Amino acid sequence: MKVLNLTKSMPKILVLKKKINNFNRIISVSGDKSISIRWVLFSSLANGVSKARNLLISEDVLAAIKAIRKLGIKSEIKNSTCKIYGKGINGYKYKKNLTINAENSGTLGRLILGLLINSPKPIKIIGDNSLSKRDFKRIADPLTRFGAKFNLKNNKNLPLTILGTKKPKPIKFTEKKGSAQIKSSIIFAGMKTNGCTTLRAKKSRNHTETMCRYLNLPLKVKSKKNYDEISITKVKKIKCLNYNIPSDISSGAFFMILTALSKNSELLIKNVNINPSRIGVITILKKMGVKINFQNKKNYRGEKIADIKIKSVKSIKPINCPVKLNASAIDEFLVIFLLAAKAKGISYFKNLEELNKKESPRLIWGSKILNMMGVKTNTTKDSIKIYGNPNLKISKKIIIKNYLKDHRVFMTSVIAALSFGGKWHIHDKDSIQTSFPTFLKIINELKK
Ligand code: S3P
Repeated sequence: MKVLNLTKSMPKILVLKKKINNFNRIISVSGDKSISIRWVLFSSLANGVSKARNLLISEDVLAAIKAIRKLGIKSEIKNSTCKIYGKGINGYKYKKNLTINAENSGTLGRLILGLLINSPKPIKIIGDNSLSKRDFKRIADPLTRFGAKFNLKNNKNLPLTILGTKKPKPIKFTEKKGSAQIKSSIIFAGMKTNGCTTLRAKKSRNHTETMCRYLNLPLKVKSKKNYDEISITKVKKIKCLNYNIPSDISSGAFFMILTALSKNSELLIKNVNINPSRIGVITILKKMGVKINFQNKKNYRGEKIADIKIKSVKSIKPINCPVKLNASAIDEFLVIFLLAAKAKGISYFKNLEELNKKESPRLIWGSKILNMMGVKTNTTKDSIKIYGNPNLKISKKIIIKNYLKDHRVFMTSVIAALSFGGKWHIHDKDSIQTSFPTFLKIINELKK
């Protein structure tokens, strides 16, 4: 496999000293991470060659490609086009003592376990420092009920070992956290049982279900008000999956908020995935008074896509954020907090326990960054009150470091520096390689 050199040797500290000038531009952000990783996994199970265009070429997605390669699946990458030579639903072949490194990716580490439910030999899953602190019991518990055997560090963390079962048994499960990773891992395992797995899942991103539907797999979803009732039975064959990956709204969100916070600016972000389970950030921005709309809407392979148009605003309203938006904006809260910092009043975000379980404890990091910026917060283990200041300006020096290289902490800090001023030293610049390697290139374009 040709792996791209992701410029690990760049200087590691980014220094920013100036607010951004007004801009009026059209940009494209990179491919959706959730869809890219799912495309890699589904394609590895298909019968034949699948091709993706605009695949996100970032460390998380490359880790997924390396993982399926270790399971005996061939792939080729040229620029952002990728081919995967799937060998069927039970086509993984590998040697004894296999180790898969999920690196920084919770999505890869958790989803792949569902596919290993019938692995005949033990497989070890490891991850980087950040992933090794995250909870894998949430996956091991339901998958144990299918019949797999797990060994986890501290009963909870990576490294873990999974030993599959020849005859996985279907299960009934209630998913209460609103985690698409738990839901997807169970759907994958359910595809390999003789019987019907049923899942009552709190609403969360539904790309796995959407791909199953596009591939005509035996998955049913009954949508209820606060949860989905999902059932999945044995999958015999998966057709090849050619896919043009749309752009990632989670990457776009940094630029939406930069625009909202800048004076006299306008931005059009092209071809973004606007799956209703991902657009909490849009609803929140609208509630805060930001002018934002969708243009050129399309359907693609069951996903919704549009260009997103956004303009800067004079006055930002505070928000008492409805908890029903939490799952659909979970990756955007850090940068949303910056908008709340400039709102005219107090914003309140609650029931956000999951936010501290991401690549870094993001509720804690969100409030740390705001406090360094001179913004008052009241933070509990699952909520934050942000005392907004419409005249917020920063002139002091702010150093951001030791944040477990969380890509979203880095990018949020960049947006804060460009929106509010001050002298920022933001460490671990290479953290963007996880999800959005072209982030700083787009920032530099907007500065021109
Ligand atoms: C993801 C699900 C979310 C999200 C993560 C990507 C996915 O995590 O935070 O960045 O692709 O399924 P949880 O499912 O753990 O909430």
